[in-house]
Amino acid sequence: MISIKYHEKTKHYPNRFAKSLGYLDWANQPNPYKSYYKAPKIPLKIFTIQPLSYERLYTKNPTKEMNLSTISQFFEYSLALSAIKEYMNSRWAVRINPSSGNLHPEESYLIVEKSVYHFNVKEFALEEIAKSDEVLVKNGAVFVLTSIPLRESWKYGERALRYCLLDSGHAIAAARFSANLLGWNMKYIDEYPESKLEKLIGLDKQCFYQNEEEIFEAAFYLYTEKKPEINFKAFEKLEFLLDYSSLTKESIRWEIIFETAKYLKREEPFRPEFKNFPISFNPSIFNAFEIIKNRRSALEYKQKYIKKKEFLDILDKTLPRNIPPFDTNAILNKINFVIFANRIEGLEEGIYYFDRNENSLEIIEKGDFSEAAKFVNCVQDLGKDSAFTISMIIDKNEIKEDFYYKLAMFEAGIIGQILYLEAEAKNIRGCGIGCFFDDLISIEILNNPDILTLYDFSIGEPIVDERIIPIKANEGRIF
Ligand SMILES: Cc1cc2nc3c(=O)[nH]c(=O)nc-3n(C[C@H](O)[C@H](O)[C@H](O)COP(=O)(O)O)c2cc1C
Repeated sequence: MISIKYHEKTKHYPNRFAKSLGYLDWANQPNPYKSYYKAPKIPLKIFTIQPLSYERLYTKNPTKEMNLSTISQFFEYSLALSAIKEYMNSRWAVRINPSSGNLHPEESYLIVEKSVYHFNVKEFALEEIAKSDEVLVKNGAVFVLTSIPLRESWKYGERALRYCLLDSGHAIAAARFSANLLGWNMKYIDEYPESKLEKLIGLDKQCFYQNEEEIFEAAFYLYTEKKPEINFKAFEKLEFLLDYSSLTKESIRWEIIFETAKYLKREEPFRPEFKNFPISFNPSIFNAFEIIKNRRSALEYKQKYIKKKEFLDILDKTLPRNIPPFDTNAILNKINFVIFANRIEGLEEGIYYFDRNENSLEIIEKGDFSEAAKFVNCVQDLGKDSAFTISMIIDKNEIKEDFYYKLAMFEAGIIGQILYLEAEAKNIRGCGIGCFFDDLISIEILNNPDILTLYDFSIGEPIVDERIIPIKANEGRIF
């Protein structure tokens, strides 16, 4: 399987990191914002919204009609800018959705009525890249996510495709939560091959500057009642306005990324299986919108304990239930956890195995393994100082087709987004960890070479980052 070969080839080892440039070429950092400058712009707006309580992230909400104000809200609470950070003489923006290295490889598109739009993150606007005389999508919209691997490979080299997939998983979950708060459905479009779906946004027609190719990640129906219908015939006549300014001057091509991405394309339908676990919610001091907007990555933790009840509550929300955000279906539902329980009051310190499909937590090894948790995670203190650190793992025999790998990585990112929001809801904080020594979990802890680590995640009491200045989604012009 090409995807598994890619994963094996891009492992980090304590004595050898996956192939990359080895230093940061700051002069050629790709622009994280893409703009189609010939496309007419429609500014999105900020509206006052009614607060909804925390559990509404997961439960059904009253349906709002799809119009400019609700579409604005959809983007404001999924992929928009949410704060700026200042350090020494530099300022940079952070967003509702996280991204490895804050490099944000993903782009997003919305097809609604007779137009195809690109979401311009910095300007908080829709760019109309194509317009038809006929309705393109009936009964709702199509939402498409893509990635520009160069933005990640600039820093991470060959491992960058992993980060694109994980970031896409985060973006899918962020979009699903936002759509759910509007009472909208969001479903993975699996009945058409991706080679057909990518044409909906003109991806096959784009002339990319060198190494700036954008790859298709996934498309979703967004709708209120009836599943939308795509008028494929009308797309054949579309003329796209796809001129954009080059994202960088010089770049390196990591061929393995584009070669592997070709094999990740889904050409056949896929539906995951869900479990029917009962669910209950403990209240949060924050409402659903505050939780989404305040989400940040912890940079450091205070080495404080959290309660067992909080820990179990967080794990519970990662169970494979057919509710948001898993109910998009863009998952494999085969990920389990190895957990380093560092500081959980009422739970013995040690390494645990959490089977998500059985909802069972078993201890593998008792003792203080916080130093090991640091080492596993590329010697990052986040692993050690947290209350707990998770490794999301999968048995490689579950990857039966190459596109299953993509769905598994989406699933890891989606779980990561749940963990971020769950931590915020409990007034603590999380941080995704893409840098880990892959084989330490599979070989040293589980003694099973068939296990792949897809993504790690830490949660704990954060040291407050004073540099965060919240901004509105349409204030991107100020930095
Ligand atoms: C897939 C992924 C991998 C990440 N890996 C790491 C990591 O290894 N170490 C780290 O300190 N932060 C990591 N982060 C956190 C990002 O650096 C962070 O999301 C980014 O700087 C933006 O900040 P924000 O999350 O507060 O918006 C990761 C985030 C994601 C989504």
